[in-house]
Amino acid sequence: MLTLGIETSCDETSAAVVRAGRDILSNVILSQAVHTRFGGVIPEVASREHVKAIVPIYQQALEEAGVTITDIKLVAATMGPGLVGPLLVGLSFAKGLAYARNVPFVPVNHLEGHLAANVLEHQDLDKHHLTLIVSGGHTMLVEVKSFGEYLLLGRTRDDAAGEAFDKVAKLMGLGYPGGAALDKLASTGNPRYFRFPRAVMKDDFQFSYSGLKTAVALYLKKLDPNELAERKADIAASFQEAVVDVLTVKTLRAMEATGVRHVTVSGGVAANSRLRLRLREEVEARGGRLYYPSLALCTDNAAMIAAAGFYNFEKHGPGELIANAIPNLKLV
Ligand code: KG4
Ligand code: ZN
Repeated sequence: MLTLGIETSCDETSAAVVRAGRDILSNVILSQAVHTRFGGVIPEVASREHVKAIVPIYQQALEEAGVTITDIKLVAATMGPGLVGPLLVGLSFAKGLAYARNVPFVPVNHLEGHLAANVLEHQDLDKHHLTLIVSGGHTMLVEVKSFGEYLLLGRTRDDAAGEAFDKVAKLMGLGYPGGAALDKLASTGNPRYFRFPRAVMKDDFQFSYSGLKTAVALYLKKLDPNELAERKADIAASFQEAVVDVLTVKTLRAMEATGVRHVTVSGGVAANSRLRLRLREEVEARGGRLYYPSLALCTDNAAMIAAAGFYNFEKHGPGELIANAIPNLKLV
């Protein structure tokens, strides 16, 4: 069964064709460059860019997959969480297409899409696993009993991990969104150059990044410009280490508390090279297995939405065409 996936929750316009929730035939992603000059996503601008891009991106996805619209048997689109204008563009397009072609439609939770990226790519992943979702808007630890059955273990009290990366990257003049640039810079720095605070005191699964962000901001403010220029990579590596430390400690704690040995990490920050390495080492040292998506499936993309839509369709059948965009949609 071929599924067409559509993703427009933030500033990526994406369309993908996926066979049976397993094989990606195409996954076209357009990242809107227009926002870089504002240092953040402007929702109204993003909506307009999605309107311009959605049809050509959809056509390109069919073309790259070597199929036509008559081959598509299921249409899936992100309904939330995300920015309401951008969500409505993709959702309305997908619903219209499903209606016109008389094929079933499934609305998808974007966070379930991130989680599904690992199910899509790793055949040997246990149905019952732990997942760490770390993106620009979310940081959460979830026990996945099976696809669709979730137990929330913990989430961030304030900033998301990706948000912390973006804010610190901005302070350091690395552009927006700066997570990937900071990762690259940090790879040449010393993670022990300065010890930034880690919010790991309490024996729970909650996260907090606003204190760390403020600590870095104050540190940078006090620094003389020469030291900043000389030590930029060391500061980036030290900040990154603090984020990765907390994510690792809490994930290991969840492994211990639940006894679940298969762990996945997903979302944009799952692309972070230090996080991938540390988590893999630590999880494997405790007899577990760590799974992460390939880089293209970490950040927002429609292949993960097509896969999540397909798994949902298998379990519950088609969704309703009256499905609306829900900006603050929860996973659990
Ligand atoms: O999942 P995503 O594409 O969008 C949301 O659903 O939020 O995640 C985007 C986030 C941004 O904050 C971006 O800076 C971060 O993921 N990111 C990274 C890396 N690549 C992307 N953060 C750290 N290291 C990276 N390599
Ligand atoms: Zn995302």
